[in-house]
Order: sequence, then structure tokens, then C-alpha cells
Amino acid sequence: MSNPFQFTLPTKVIYKPGAIEELGAVLADIHVAKALIVTDPGLTAAGYVEPIEKILDQAQVAYRVFNDVEPNPSVETVEKGVSVYADLDYQVVIALGGGSPMDVAKTVAVRVTNDKAVPDLEGADQFENDPLPVIAIPTTAGTGSEVTPFAVITNREKKYKLTIISPRIIPKIAILDPGLIANLPAPIAASTGLDALTHAVESYTSLYGSAYSDAFAEKAIDLIGKYLRRFVANRQNQEAAGSMLIASLFAGLAFAHSRLGNAHAMAHPLGGFFNVPHGVANAILLPHIMDYNRIAVPERFERIAQLLGEAPVAENAVLAVRRLNQDLGIPASLSDVGVQADAIEAMTADAMKSGNVLANPRQTGTPEIQALFRQAL
Ligand SMILES: NC(=O)c1ccc[n+]([C@@H]2O[C@H](COP(=O)([O-])OP(=O)(O)OC[C@H]3O[C@@H](n4cnc5c(N)ncnc54)[C@H](O)[C@@H]3O)[C@@H](O)[C@H]2O)c1
Ligand SMILES: [Fe+2]
Repeated sequence: MSNPFQFTLPTKVIYKPGAIEELGAVLADIHVAKALIVTDPGLTAAGYVEPIEKILDQAQVAYRVFNDVEPNPSVETVEKGVSVYADLDYQVVIALGGGSPMDVAKTVAVRVTNDKAVPDLEGADQFENDPLPVIAIPTTAGTGSEVTPFAVITNREKKYKLTIISPRIIPKIAILDPGLIANLPAPIAASTGLDALTHAVESYTSLYGSAYSDAFAEKAIDLIGKYLRRFVANRQNQEAAGSMLIASLFAGLAFAHSRLGNAHAMAHPLGGFFNVPHGVANAILLPHIMDYNRIAVPERFERIAQLLGEAPVAENAVLAVRRLNQDLGIPASLSDVGVQADAIEAMTADAMKSGNVLANPRQTGTPEIQALFRQAL
């Protein structure tokens, strides 16, 4: 039986090869004349911003480009984005990039209309005024941030990744163009794809899941099982790139309605303390968490095994993800990415603050999170 559910889909999603060409028409539709583009230096250097500038010029939209977003983006970066171009008085924020630029754009959109420090925005609906609308253009197939009510920002001083949660920060429009992920470096394609798989698996096994989130999670797992290897092997494979972008979108729709689990609760402090990229942290943790959770919801893991092309035995789901990690060159352990044992206690305390622990299907307390960190080390 399903948990009760409600849903509205506030995002207009446009998926199409070449969809970026629709941006001009999209802007004309919502009648905006001034836009802030939020992106990162890697994307600017790789030539992603120029075509967008041309489209905005043609559409006669005035814009500025805020280009300073870093992976695991900080409170300071958000504040810089708010202050640097305040003079333009923009009406929309366009996010071009992976989860980092999308989350900064969502937070800048809140900060512009609410005079409240970013750390005070942590949690559910901690702001009064509606944010500016956000148009999200993902360039990784991973986070699903283009449709989620979350924005994850790092408080560097406290080494803490805080999550802002509100249906009002869900982007109004998402433009999904497989051409934009065709030149992703293979290791980023791999780790971001495994972030999407972690979203789908954690959503599918979450205590807060429903028939709605299950439908999107199952399809996402199926697509990732079929296409992630092919995509990493050749990012120019259009069928694989398109399928991964859809998988990431569906996984985002799933977990937006179910929350996640221990892998995400633990991945955030790994980003806060050691700046481990989000996808890499999840990829290393996922098989450990699946193995730990297997006895709580065996029939869910049997189905995951099946969706990943294995016989429907719960343990096979774990083995399939281990093999996927190996095939894609994911580091075998947390120590391989610089994580040190002496931080486990502090990281566990932060993981326990995450709402995702409560969604995890096997009850989890401080000793269990510590043991899971040690196991993955
Ligand atoms: N809001 C949410 O719902 C949500 C969900 C999951 C993760 N997140 C957050 O998202 C962040 C991670 O985002 P991410 O994994 O997409 O990575 P990212 O945005 O940090 O990007 C990683 C790197 O990939 C490069 N890159 C991105 N697209 C590229 C392309 N097409 N070609 C070449 N290089 C490209 C960037 O320049 C950057 O150096 C984390 O902070 C995580 O906590 C948010
Ligand atoms: Fe994630």
C-alpha cells in the first residue's frame, strides 16, 4: 500500500535535443527583460555561456553573468552573487550548470527578495517573500536540482552543508538538452550518474515513498542500469546522454517527494569536511548503505536487482552497484578520496541532523552511522 501523497508539478520541463534554442521563446513567454546568469568557471572556459549570451542578445534581454560558483558552493558565493550585480535589478535567475550553479541560483533568488543570512534559511520554508523565478539548464545528469525543492549550500566556517527546503524554490522552467552533457569529462559523467542512482534507490526504499515517487524511481533505476556505462564510455552517444538526463530528472522528481536516506545524510558532511564531490561521496557510500538496508525492505531490493538486469535477489542489487562502481572507476573507499578517521565523530553528528536519516528504511542512530563511515573508509 502506498503512503498518502499529493503532488503539483510547478516546473515546465522542456526535454529535447537542441532544447537550448527554446530559451529565447521561453523568456519572451514570461516577459522578462533582465536576467542574471549563474554558472561556473569550468563551463565558461568550455564555451557554454557564449551561445546563451547570443540567445539573450537576440531576445533583447539584458543580463550579467555570475561565473564564480565552485563545487560544494559556499554561503560566501551566494552572497557575492546577490551583491555583485544588484544594480541590474534582474527579474529572473538563469542557472547554467550542475547542482552547484543550480543551487546557488535558487538561493540567490531567495536572498534577493529576503534580507536574511543564508545559514538562517536552513530547513523548511524559512523565508517570507517569494523568490525570483529560476530557469534551470542542467549540464550534468545527476542532481535533479532542476525540479527539486532543495538547495544545498556549504557553511565553510562550520564545514557544514545546509539544505534550504521550500516548494517555492523549485525552478519554474527546466530546459533539458542532451547536447549540453555531450562533453562532460568521463569521471564527472560517472559520479554524477551515480548520484542520480543514489537518489532513485534511496527514494525507492525511503519510508516516505509513495506510488508516485516509486514510478519515477523505478524508471530512473531502469534507465541508469541500461545507459550509465554507455554514457560514460561515450558521452557523444545521444541515446545514452538523453536517457541519463531523463533518468536524473525522474530521480529528482522521485526524491523531491520521498526524501532520501543514510547515503545522502552521510555524503553531505563528506562534502563539508573534505570537499569530496557529492556524486563521488554517494557512489562510495551507496553499496554499503544498500547492504545495511537490505534486510529492512528485501522486496524493494529484489526489484532494484531486477531493474539493474540481475535475478531478483536482494543481495544482487548491492553486487550490481559494486560492479557498476568498479566499471566506472569510482574510488573504492573514502580514504582514497582523503577522508580521515578522526573526523568520523564530527561527521556523524552532522549526518544525524539530516532529515534523511528519518527516511532511511532501517532505523539508524549515532553508533550505526559511525560504523557505516568506518566500513566505507
Ligand atoms: N538541490 C538538489 O536537489 C541537489 C541534489 C543533489 C545534489 N545537490 C548538490 O549539487 C552539487 C553537485 O552538483 P553536480 O554533481 O552536478 O556537480 P557541480 O555542479 O559541482 O559540477 C562539477 C564540475 O563539473 C563541471 N561541469 C559541469 N557540467 C559540465 C559540462 N557539461 N561539461 C564540462 N564540465 C562540466 C563543472 O565545471 C564543475 O567543475 C552538490 O553541492 C550537491 O550537494 C543538490
Ligand atoms: Fe544527491
